[in-house]
Amino acid sequence: MSELPSDLARVVLSAETIHARVCEIADQLSKDYADKDGLYIIGILKGAFIFLADLTRQLTLPHVVDFMAVSSYGKTDTFSGAVRIIMDLREPIEGRHVLIVEDIVDTGHTLSYLYRTLKGRKPASLNACVLVQKERDSLEVPIHYLGFKIPDVWVVGYGLDFADAYRTLPYIAELKREEG
Ligand code: PRP
Repeated sequence: MSELPSDLARVVLSAETIHARVCEIADQLSKDYADKDGLYIIGILKGAFIFLADLTRQLTLPHVVDFMAVSSYGKTDTFSGAVRIIMDLREPIEGRHVLIVEDIVDTGHTLSYLYRTLKGRKPASLNACVLVQKERDSLEVPIHYLGFKIPDVWVVGYGLDFADAYRTLPYIAELKREEG
């Protein structure tokens, strides 16, 4: 692998490790939903776009891809959990088998909000597929398909950003933080 950018401390998940796990999850999804009449996949922008693209191209069952963009009001320890929709789905999801695809669960507020909001639209089923979850205190939110648990550090790459930088790195790396 070429040298890490100087702002990054270490690789947390290599491209190869991610690819192998994405294929495993896609296999599992293809089995679990095989008897359903298609899957309605919702990628949560911006962070999920790379995971979603790799995951869906490995699926062997009929599926539709749609997107939502949500935004939270800051990410501090006193974060209120308020989330709002910036861009909504194109279609109603009533009666459909829905899978939320997220890059990361940190506090859990975003996924919790998505469950509350989307359940109200009466899907036939509603599950979540998340690439990484931080090992930290967070809201209890069900994650039906999880790629990896990772330490509670700031990570970038494979969709994850720092001020919109680093999203398209092929691996996930820990960002160096300024001391003090
Ligand atoms: C990230 C990520 C999740 C959310 C998870 O999005 O994509 O949606 O944070 O955090 P939580 O569990 O603490 O709610 P972010 O708000 O950084 O936006 P982005 O995806 O556009 O980068």
